[in-house]
Amino acid sequence: MFDPVKIRSEFPIFSHHPELIYLDNAATTQKPEAVIRATSDFYQKENANIHRGIYELAANASQKYEQVRRTVASFIGAERPESIVYTSGTTEGINLVAQSFLAGRLQPGDEVVISAMEHHANLIPWQQVCKMQGAKLRVIPVSEAGEIDLAVFKKMLSERTKMVALVHVSNTLGTINPVEEMIEMAHSRDIPVLLDGAQSVAHYPLDVQALDVDFFVFSGHKIFGPTGTGILYGKPEHLENMEPVTFGGDMINSVSFETTTFAAVPQRFEAGTTNIAGVIGLGAAIDFLMKFDKNDILAHLKNLTETATDALRQIDGLKIIGTAQNKSAIVSFTLGNVHPHDVATFLGSENIAVRAGNHCTQPLMDFYGLPGTTRASFSIYNTAEEALRLAEALKDIQRFFA
Ligand SMILES: Cc1ncc(COP(=O)(O)O)c(C=O)c1O
Repeated sequence: MFDPVKIRSEFPIFSHHPELIYLDNAATTQKPEAVIRATSDFYQKENANIHRGIYELAANASQKYEQVRRTVASFIGAERPESIVYTSGTTEGINLVAQSFLAGRLQPGDEVVISAMEHHANLIPWQQVCKMQGAKLRVIPVSEAGEIDLAVFKKMLSERTKMVALVHVSNTLGTINPVEEMIEMAHSRDIPVLLDGAQSVAHYPLDVQALDVDFFVFSGHKIFGPTGTGILYGKPEHLENMEPVTFGGDMINSVSFETTTFAAVPQRFEAGTTNIAGVIGLGAAIDFLMKFDKNDILAHLKNLTETATDALRQIDGLKIIGTAQNKSAIVSFTLGNVHPHDVATFLGSENIAVRAGNHCTQPLMDFYGLPGTTRASFSIYNTAEEALRLAEALKDIQRFFA
C-alpha cells in the first residue's frame, strides 16, 4: 500500500522541519535516510579513489561505483552498463552531447530543433553550437495550453535537421510531451533525438530502448540522490563514435608528449576524479525508488495534482499556466497582479516551500507575457492535505492583496 506519510518518515529533513510543506520538488527532491547513509558510510568506512588503486579499499570503491552503472542501466532499460556515462547533472550531459556528438556534424545552414518550453539547459548548449557552426536553432511553438502540435513539429523536420532536443516533462508547465511519436517522426528522417528527462525520470516508467531514444539525460538530485550527479545515456553506436571534450586523468589508454589514446566508452567521458560518493548515493536513490511500483507513484501524483488544481481553480484571480491534457505533478500559476516573489514569500512564511520566477525558461515566460509564475511541484512524500493547505494559504494572500 502506497503511504506518503510513511514515505515521509524516511526523509530526515522532515523530522528537522516537521511543519515543512515542501512543494519545490521540481527544483530538487529531499533525500531519504538510505541515500544520506550510503554517502556518509562511503566517506566513513569505504573512501578511496577508484580505478587506480590495487589495495582492497580502492578495489571495493571501484566495484561499488561500477555496480551503480549496472543499477542505472537496468533502471532505464539501457542495453548495457557501458551506455551509462556519469555526469554532474542534466546540464553537463546536454553540453557533452552538443559538443561531442553534434558540433562536428553541423554545417552552415543545418538546423537543430528544440521546443519553446525548454529549460535553459536544453537551449543554450544548442544555441552555442549553432552559433559556432553557422547553423540555425529552430523552435517548435507551444499552444496557450502548453502543448506541442505534432503536425507543426513534423513540418519543421527536413534534411537540414541534424538534431532534435526535447524536454520530456516541462519543469514550468508540467506538460508531458508526446515523445514516442516525436522520436518516431524524427527517426523516419534519420534525425537523432535527445530527451531531457530531468523532470520525468523520478515518476514515469522508462525504457530507453523501447523509446528508441538516442540520448537521455537526467540529474541525480531530482530523483532523491545527491547534487552534482547525473546520467547521460547514449546509444552504443553514438557513444562509440564520440570524442571526449574534457581531457585529463582516468580517461586515457596511453599518453606521450606527442599523442594520447583514449579509454573505451564510458571512461573516456569521465575525466578526472568524479563524484564517487555521489554516484554511490545515486545508486542508493535508485534502489530506494525501485522499491515502489511506478504506477502507484503515478496514481498518487495524479491525485495530488488534481486535488491542487481543483482547489486552486476556486481562487479568484488565480490562473493556472500550463493546462495540457497530459500533465505531470507540476502546477504553475499567477495570482492576479501579485508578483510571484510576493506569493512565494508569503507561502514561505507559512512553511510552504514553492518556487517563483521564470524557472530557467525565460523565452517561455516571454511567450506567456509573464515575468514569472509561482510553481508548486509534488513528490511521493506529499499529501492531499498539503495540496489543500496550499490553496488555503493562497486564499489568504488573495484576500490580503485584494
Ligand atoms: C527540465 C529540466 N532540464 C534541465 C534542468 C537542469 O538540471 P541540472 O541543474 O540538475 O543540471 C532542470 C532543472 O531544473 C530541469 O527541470
